[in-house]
Amino acid sequence: MTISQEIISEIARYAQMAPSGDNLQDWRLSLNGDTLELIGEFDDHPFNFNHRPSLTGYGAVLENARIASEEFGFEMIEELFPEGANKKLISSLRFSKSPSKNQQPLFPYLETRAVNRGKYQKKELPPEMRKELVKTAEESGFGKLLLTENSASKQKAAKAAFFGSQIMMEHQGVHQSLFQNIRWTQAEAEKTRDGLFIKTLELGFQEPAFRLLRSWTLTSILNFFGLSLFAAFRDYQLSMGSSALGLIEIPDDSPQSILNGGKLFERLWLKMSSLGLSLQPESAIVYFLHLFWEQPHHFTPSQRRVLEKGARALKEAFPMKNEKGILMLFRLGYASKAPSTRSLRKLVEI
Ligand SMILES: Cc1cc2nc3c(=O)[nH]c(=O)nc-3n(C[C@H](O)[C@H](O)[C@H](O)COP(=O)(O)O)c2cc1C
Repeated sequence: MTISQEIISEIARYAQMAPSGDNLQDWRLSLNGDTLELIGEFDDHPFNFNHRPSLTGYGAVLENARIASEEFGFEMIEELFPEGANKKLISSLRFSKSPSKNQQPLFPYLETRAVNRGKYQKKELPPEMRKELVKTAEESGFGKLLLTENSASKQKAAKAAFFGSQIMMEHQGVHQSLFQNIRWTQAEAEKTRDGLFIKTLELGFQEPAFRLLRSWTLTSILNFFGLSLFAAFRDYQLSMGSSALGLIEIPDDSPQSILNGGKLFERLWLKMSSLGLSLQPESAIVYFLHLFWEQPHHFTPSQRRVLEKGARALKEAFPMKNEKGILMLFRLGYASKAPSTRSLRKLVEI
């Protein structure tokens, strides 16, 4: 039996729910005959270096599409980079009827998974959950999940996240792109259906002050008085207050490995949602380090020193085989409350 256009549309709708850096959803899903195409709409901003954040999101889109298609009784046949890895056509997806209906335990979480940037409860991660998550990564064949084992390694990993946040407030280009991607009102969020709606940042009473930081001049003056350290300390505290920090390590830097790493990241996030756990990526330090290792000129000498400390802290926190294989850093745990609001998605019309 061939697949109907209605089912492909449904699969695309679930695929669109994937997470993306700053919720930019920098891809397009389009129907070509009976093939669903995933087209990258990445930009060449230095902080999208090697399209790492974009490719990680595309991996999540493909993971969602696979789970949904199997839930609907179709096997997804995926051709990656049919026109070459530097082209915009990321993947062509075809669907063939599965001999048996194969219910997907992670399917219900495609719709409910969400980033939770609030406080988490001071609770340990039960050893059986820890094992299950590590096993999920092992079985994927896409990469490894490393989790902090004790408070000393958590402190190191939280320090690495701290250094990433510090640079975010101190680098004009990063500041500019972050603030451009914020949607300041509900109406604005509903109009674009992408970007970071301010309420999802869970800033609480600090929100009015944060709004003033749109101005780089003000931010850079306040940085002189310790603003970037104050902001980074907030992230450090959130990390220390969560059950663990996790790091995904991938075998190499190829676009295919990054994309597969994105599939693994989404699978783990959905798995955590199914276990009642919440997650917040702390990706800044990871992306800054990759850029720093290849093109240090994007950073000032003092920012380079901060990044060197970040790299050291990550290495001490996690027993990595290859530090250049870092794909994603995140904190995880039991959220104190549900997210205040959910981020929106662009409507898929195929
Ligand atoms: C590649 C990638 C990097 C991300 N980095 C961060 C991050 O550093 N901090 C953060 O709070 N969220 C981060 N996120 C989460 C996204 O902002 C979030 O998924 C997006 O806003 C959509 O919201 P949702 O996941 O709740 O649907 C990242 C997501 C992806 C896929």
